[in-house]
Parts: sequence; structure tokens; C-alpha cells
Amino acid sequence: MAKYQADSERYTKMNYRRTGNSGLLLPELSLGLWHNFGKNDDFENSRNLLKCAFDNGITHFDLANNYGPPPGSAEKNFGKILKKNFKNYRDELIISSKAGYGMWPGPYGDWGSKKFLVSSLDQSLQRMKLDYVDIFYHHRPDYDTPLEETMGTLDLMVRQGKALYVGISNYQPERAAAAFKILKDLGTPCLIHQPRYSLFDRWIEDGLLDLLGNSGVGAICFSPLAQGMLTDKYINGLPRDSRAIKDSPFLNSTQVLEMLPKINALHKIAKSRNQTLAQMAISWILKDDRITSVLIGASKTEQILDSVKAIKNTHFSEEELTNINSVLN
Ligand SMILES: NC(=O)c1ccc[n+]([C@@H]2O[C@H](COP(=O)([O-])OP(=O)(O)OC[C@H]3O[C@@H](n4cnc5c(N)ncnc54)[C@H](OP(=O)(O)O)[C@@H]3O)[C@@H](O)[C@H]2O)c1
Repeated sequence: MAKYQADSERYTKMNYRRTGNSGLLLPELSLGLWHNFGKNDDFENSRNLLKCAFDNGITHFDLANNYGPPPGSAEKNFGKILKKNFKNYRDELIISSKAGYGMWPGPYGDWGSKKFLVSSLDQSLQRMKLDYVDIFYHHRPDYDTPLEETMGTLDLMVRQGKALYVGISNYQPERAAAAFKILKDLGTPCLIHQPRYSLFDRWIEDGLLDLLGNSGVGAICFSPLAQGMLTDKYINGLPRDSRAIKDSPFLNSTQVLEMLPKINALHKIAKSRNQTLAQMAISWILKDDRITSVLIGASKTEQILDSVKAIKNTHFSEEELTNINSVLN
């Protein structure tokens, strides 16, 4: 197999945004490895997804300890591909991992204790064969562990050189604000928050986005396509190779069928903007400059090629926004 040489035009194809008040720029689209990189997925396809993303200027790959299945296998596969194909590009990549969900049995394999987070990051680094991750996240809030302990552990990881920056994910505004204060006082400001956000799930408009904007913390939004529902793929039925038909515990055909009238109406608006529905769903998130990056998933390279075109039109007229809102309400 010929050695992978990244497209020399890659940085002309993507826009990069500053992450909050930090020095770090992230691509407007980032690629997540939650699905399609596990032990049972097609390894060559996983490799091609990473190459396609990087060739299009996507410099940020997002992982977590538990991505697979089985948990850990996405990091393992990513480590193999990194070693084989991206060795010369490590300094051009932003690689993140997380811990916060159940990973191994017993009292030390879940949530937000120092014991769990330190062990989990060490395991992630081993699986990916890395000396450090660029961003390490606490994956979900833990109300039973003192926030000082969890945030103190993130600060420790940076001081140990195992993570360059830290972030939090799935934290509600009040808990997030408290976390930002602790991290700032420790001298390791929170780089970024990773919440779910899409046309179908707008909870962050209720306080979190304002907090992030006012605190100088970046935002990277996951499931921007509502796991594929906000695309053209379900309009003419349920494709056999889609997430809703495969055995994903996170998306099923009933959910898709319930949303179909809205999907069809949004599809029409996207068409009037000369966009696919996926492109419009991503552009709609990027219209807000408090958002740093949109974190997509993909099972096929064609999906990445479709989605990256979203960056070409992130402007919405008042009429378009009104029409979108009336579909959603
Ligand atoms: N922090 C957290 O708690 C958390 C939680 C969830 C996810 N995440 C992160 O966010 C990333 C993205 O999440 P997600 O996979 O739910 O994102 P998503 O972008 O909403 O959904 C991705 C799925 O949509 C379909 N798709 C993507 N682009 C398409 C296109 N252009 N046309 C048609 N279909 C398209 C594919 O579905 P098919 O597979 O059906 O082809 C793909 O697997 C994850 O990989 C992970 O890194 C974080």
C-alpha cells in the first residue's frame, strides 16, 4: 500500500475558529469516533474516514475511553491508524479523549474521582500509543464527587504533560460555571465545553451558550445531525446500513419515523438554500460565532465530503430562520 500523503490543499478547504479566549484554533468541522471505529467495524473504512477528514482540513479527532464497541476499541484502532498513516502529522492534529462513563467493574471504573480519571487517561494513552492528548474531558457531571477533586485532576493532567488542554462535557450551566471558576483559580482555564446541540435539541440556548460566550470558553457541539436524522438519508425510507436500522441503542426507527414530517419540511428549506439537509443543519449551528466547532460522525467518506460543504454558507436570512423555527415549534 502506498504511503499516505495528505492533500497539500487541505488548509485552503477549511475555516478555523479560535476556541474561546485560548490560543487554539479548531476546524469548523471536527470528526468524532463514537461509531464506525470499533472492533467490529470495517478497519479500512475507518482509515479512509480519517484520511478523508484530514484531506479536507479536519484537524481534530474526538475520542473517549468507552468508544467502540467494545469500549476502548476505537482508541486502539485509532492508535494503529495513527502509527501507520499519520505519524508525520501528529503536530497537525488535535486529539481528544474523555472519561466519565462506566469503563471497568468496581468502584474505580466510572464517574469523576481522581482514581478513575488518572487511570483512565493512562489507559487511553496506552491504547492510542500517545504521550499526551491535546484535550482531555470530564465526560459527564458527577454530583457525588467534589467538583474540586474532578477539576483538580484535570489540572494535574495538564501539569503532568498528559493533556495540553482540558474540557467538560454534558455539564448544565450552573455546574459548568462552578467548574470554570475552580479551573481558572488553579491556573488551567477550561478550554471548551462539549454539549449536544442540533436543530432537534436546542437546550444550550437556555443559558449555556451565554455562559460560554461570557466566560471565554469554546463550544464543540456533538450529534449536530441528530445521529443522521437531520440528513436526506431517511426521506425515502430507512436504509439497511443506517444507524437507525443497525443495532444502535442510541437511535431507532421509531424515533426517525416520529420526526419524519419535520425532517421533510426542513429538507425543503435546505433545498431552497441550495444545501443538503446535513449541510443546512451544520451551517445553522455555525451561524453563531460562540460555537467553535461542529462535531460530526460519519460512516462513509461521501458523508464527510457532503458535510464539509456546509462551511460555504453559514448565513441565514430572518425569513429562513422564521421558517425553520415554525417547523420546529
Ligand atoms: N460528549 C458526549 O457525551 C458525546 C455524545 C455523543 C457523541 N459525541 C461525539 O460527537 C461525535 C458525533 O456524534 P454523532 O455521530 O451522533 O453525530 P451526527 O453527525 O449527528 O451523526 C452522525 C451520523 O449521521 C449520518 N451522517 C453523517 N453525515 C451525513 C451526511 N452528510 N449525509 C447523510 N448521513 C450522514 C451517519 O449515519 P449512518 O451511520 O446511519 O450512516 C453518521 O454516522 C461522536 O463521534 C463523538 O465524538 C460526544
